[in-house]
Amino acid sequence: MEYEEVKKGLAGVIVDNTAIASTDSNGTLIYRGYAAEELAEKSTFEEVAYLVVYGHLPNKKELLKFSNLLNRNSRVPQNINKIMKLLPRNTPAIDVLRSMVSLMPLNGDENDGKLLEIAAKIPRIISDWHRLSKGSAPLRGTAETYAERFYYLLTGNKSKSDARLLEELLILYMEHEFNASTFTLRVAASTLTDPQAAMTAALAAIKGPLHGGANAEILDYLLPMKSTPEARKYVDGKLRKKEKIMGFGHRIYKNKDPRAQYLKERLRGLAAAKGAEKLYNIAVAIEDEMWKMKNIPANMDFYAAICMYLMKIDSSLNTPIFAASRSFGWTAHYLEQVSNNKLIRPSSRYIGMLGMHL
Ligand code: CMC
Repeated sequence: MEYEEVKKGLAGVIVDNTAIASTDSNGTLIYRGYAAEELAEKSTFEEVAYLVVYGHLPNKKELLKFSNLLNRNSRVPQNINKIMKLLPRNTPAIDVLRSMVSLMPLNGDENDGKLLEIAAKIPRIISDWHRLSKGSAPLRGTAETYAERFYYLLTGNKSKSDARLLEELLILYMEHEFNASTFTLRVAASTLTDPQAAMTAALAAIKGPLHGGANAEILDYLLPMKSTPEARKYVDGKLRKKEKIMGFGHRIYKNKDPRAQYLKERLRGLAAAKGAEKLYNIAVAIEDEMWKMKNIPANMDFYAAICMYLMKIDSSLNTPIFAASRSFGWTAHYLEQVSNNKLIRPSSRYIGMLGMHL
């Protein structure tokens, strides 16, 4: 039997059209026609989430309605809180998030409403679980904007500047065309399963350390480092042993991840403001050494993890925070998939035995 060449990991394979986002190897990331960095710099989270989901920037009325929807639906139902209280305290936050999303009772008939209702609740699920697991009382974010509410729910802090940096980071995490979790969601959506099940599948995929889980592992090697020579030695040692360093490399961005470079610049200012220049210099030394030794660029997770650390966000929440933002990208992809659906069911090349008989 004749087979086509197998493209491991579907690398370079175009599996469908999308009008939501586009990336390229030179380091371009576009959401619905706009550069993601420009959106991060000049827009609010709600504006970009609306753009990603509905395909155009909202007018005032649309923005107000959308912001109210996110605010109104942010509370976690009591039954879900009761289930959370039964879980072992050391359950990873991303596991709790995935499980609670799968059980979430939802209102409404429309897919976009259901998906946005889940997306709106994710910050509170993360916060409620984090507080519960530490034996602290839940926080009730009352700020009007998504980012300020989320920042308060994560830290108990009301710093406007840190909330704004979180907002920029969330905008950059929001959408990334056919990445692993989004593709997983689209496979699930293509079976015409419900939005909640598809979102649960995406949450399962984002957990892995080659995808969203990477941002939870970066501080483990970075924070113990005392100097830039130590940082360079660490990189050389890992590469010699052919081990991966989390926060580096990307399937698409072989030269530059634009999100990482944006956050690197923001980290420079943040580190100066917080007296953490040494940490910044160590991070840059790791990046430079990776590039010098193997031409592998830092990805967004590398600088996002360090920014979140300096914003006093617990690193066990890094992956759920990524998921919170990406849930708006997933919403857009679910809607796009079902609007022009064909079951995603590729083929495989059989390399097992033939001609066996009992
Ligand atoms: N550290 C060391 N070597 C690396 C790394 C890394 N982080 N990433 C890639 N390489 C090497 C890899 O060992 C291989 O080397 P060789 O050709 O000598 O065998 C070469 O670069 C190609 O790597 P690959 O894994 O085949 O490339 P890929 O396109 O399949 O993988 C990746 C992309 C993200 C899975 C990979 O770069 C990786 O595992 N990075 C670490 C995990 C990480 O940071 N993930 C977050 C990705 S960005 C956020 C997101 O979208 O989730």
